[in-house]
Formats: sequence, C-alpha cells, structure tokens
Amino acid sequence: MIYLDNGATTFPKPDCVWDAVDHFNRTAAVNAGRGAYQAARKATAMIREVREQLISLCDAREQAQVILTPSVTIALNQIIQGQPWTSDSVAYVSPYEHNAVLRPLKLLEKRIGIRILELPLSEDLSIDLESTSEMFRQTPPDFVSVSAVSNVTGYILPAREIFLMAKEYGAFTLLDAAQAMGLLKLRFSYLRADAITFAGHKTLYAPFGIGGFLLKNGVDLTELLAGGNGMKSLSEEMPLYMPEKMECGSMDTPAIAGLQASLQWLKTARPKKIEDELMTYLLPKLREISGLHLYCAPDPTLQAGVVSLNLDGFRANEVGAILDKEWNIAVRAGHHCAARIHRHLKDQEFDGTVRVSISAFTTREDLDTLVKGLKSIDREMLKGISSSVLRGNC
Ligand code: ALA
Repeated sequence: MIYLDNGATTFPKPDCVWDAVDHFNRTAAVNAGRGAYQAARKATAMIREVREQLISLCDAREQAQVILTPSVTIALNQIIQGQPWTSDSVAYVSPYEHNAVLRPLKLLEKRIGIRILELPLSEDLSIDLESTSEMFRQTPPDFVSVSAVSNVTGYILPAREIFLMAKEYGAFTLLDAAQAMGLLKLRFSYLRADAITFAGHKTLYAPFGIGGFLLKNGVDLTELLAGGNGMKSLSEEMPLYMPEKMECGSMDTPAIAGLQASLQWLKTARPKKIEDELMTYLLPKLREISGLHLYCAPDPTLQAGVVSLNLDGFRANEVGAILDKEWNIAVRAGHHCAARIHRHLKDQEFDGTVRVSISAFTTREDLDTLVKGLKSIDREMLKGISSSVLRGNC
C-alpha cells in the first residue's frame, strides 16, 4: 500500500514508537497515578516525563500545563464546553475548523444560544485579516478558534495574527494543532493561545489513544467530565487544581509510552523539512495534469503536507476508489469532517475532494505512482467497484 492518508493518522509510526509501546505493554502497563508500588511509580513518572517533553516542545515552561485526554476531540470538548458561556457570548471560528470544534460549539448554540461567527476569507482562501479586525471591532469576540493547519488544503493559518487581535477584546484563544504539533514549531506564548490541542496519532507520530492540550497557567475551565484519577480519593468531587481537574479515568499508558518515544524521535527527524521537499516535488506535477483542480494553501510558504484535488468528470470518491483498486494507493476522498471549508472550495459537483496527505515516511516514488495513477484514470476502471465503496462507505 502507498499510504497517503496521513492527515487521518500518520502511518507507519517510527520503529522506536512501536518498540516503546510493545516494551511498555510487556513490562510496565500497570495503572498510573494509583498504587505506590514500583511499577505504578514507573508509569506515573513516564507520564510526568511526557508532560515535560510537550512543554519543552512548545517552549511553554512556566506558561502552561499539559492536560492529557484519550483523544483531541475530547480535549476540544473539554475546552469548548468548559468556557463561561452566556446567551450573549460570541464565538468565532475559522472556516477551516474541524467538526471536533464546530459540533461542540453547535451544541452550545442550541443549549445556551451563543452566536457562532465565521472569520472572513479572501479570494485566495487565506484569512482576510483586515476584515477580521473590522468584524471584531463591530462584534467583539469572547472565544476564537483557529486550526493551525487545515486538514483539507494544508493551509497554515495566521493564528498568531488573529489571536493578537482577539486578545484586544480579552477573548479566549484556542489553537487546534491536531494537524500541526510536532510538524510546526508552536511557541506557546508567541502564539498568544490560551489553549493548544494535540492529537498524538497525527503529526506527533504516536499511537491512537492519547491527545490533550496545553492550557495557559491561571486559566480555569469548568470540568465536563468527572471520575477517579487517583487524587483526593475520599472526595466525591473533582480536584480543583489543574491538570487533575480535567483528567479522569485510567490513562492509556502504552499509548503515552509511544508518545514519549515519538517526541524523542521528533527531535532529530525534521518531518517539516521532508514534507516541504516532497510537496515542492509534487505540486508542479499535479498542476500539469489536465482537468485536475488543486485546493492548496494560498502561498507555498504556508503549505503543510496536505493537499486536495479533483478530476473533471469524476466524483472524489470515484477517484479514491480507482487509486485504491488499480494502484493500491490510500487517500481519503469525499468530505473531511470540516463542514464549512467545503462550501468555500466549491467542490459540490465532485462531492468533496480527494485528499493527499504525506508524512516523513512518504517517498518521491510514492508520489510518482500517485501522479501516474491520476493520469491513467478512466471510467472503465469503475467497473467492478461496489456502490458502497463509491459512496465512500467502508
Ligand atoms: N480528522 C481526521 C482527518 O482529517 C480524521 O482525516
């Protein structure tokens, strides 16, 4: 398989990650933060070390703390639903936000009556910063959420510029770095974010089962979830202090051990450099293919390793199914859980896009095969593909 669906999850993982998960599972996968015996202490120390590594990755020492969650969607829910909303509250989202941000906000729109406004886009699909400033002036924000990198086009959004403006109104600023942490240098205080979320299994190259967020010191959230975490066991209420206030249930310690290894690996792996070289190689080749529509960042310097495309005469899922059947190439096709951006891409006639997303393990040969595959596509190849696959259902 030529795997070009790294936006969904990076695969493969570095060998050191698989080794760490296996080793931890076999030798130390006991429950952390509970017992005081040696193995439990070792698991607890490992988690402490991972928090330190994440703080160091984001230059966030003495500025933020790390809250670990089973996934980035849970982290986003905790941050979004933990805000002091009222019916007068105004939340701004970029048009690139993932449903993991949009859907919790929609719940609050229904329950409390908050307003959700969208940051404006320019013609080239970059965030229009001048109009943003004007919108904020007219309707001041209480909350602003920005994706660090679009999971559809690979656009690196101007988060800092937006947050600097949002902070003039005292808004809470959320950077969803699910597609970015480990890839981009995200310096906590420079970005002016109150919270930065991460998904272990994406650009951090760790396994599924571990996500979380960095939360600015002194910022409080109302807890959404409650349960045991080994702290203050006689109390029927969650501890009042972070991070324990936001963490409950047994942690996926093998996944966290994998994250510990991947964070170490990232110190020398330089995935951004590899992805930049690969995208510089790929994009001109895609542009040469007749009938191909490309949806990428407005500027090459703002491009991460994700890009979307369509081919005239084919629905996105048809292209995805042919690439899979004829070339054993794995891409994600259709809609990508980012409801709003598809409207701006005007991809309705294609039913979404074909998304190509690379990683540090992608090769030029993989991309050559993709280009060859895209050039070879014709409708005859659709014969024999089941209608459920063509609809994008598994
Ligand atoms: N959010 C993931 C994606 O972009 C699953 O595919």
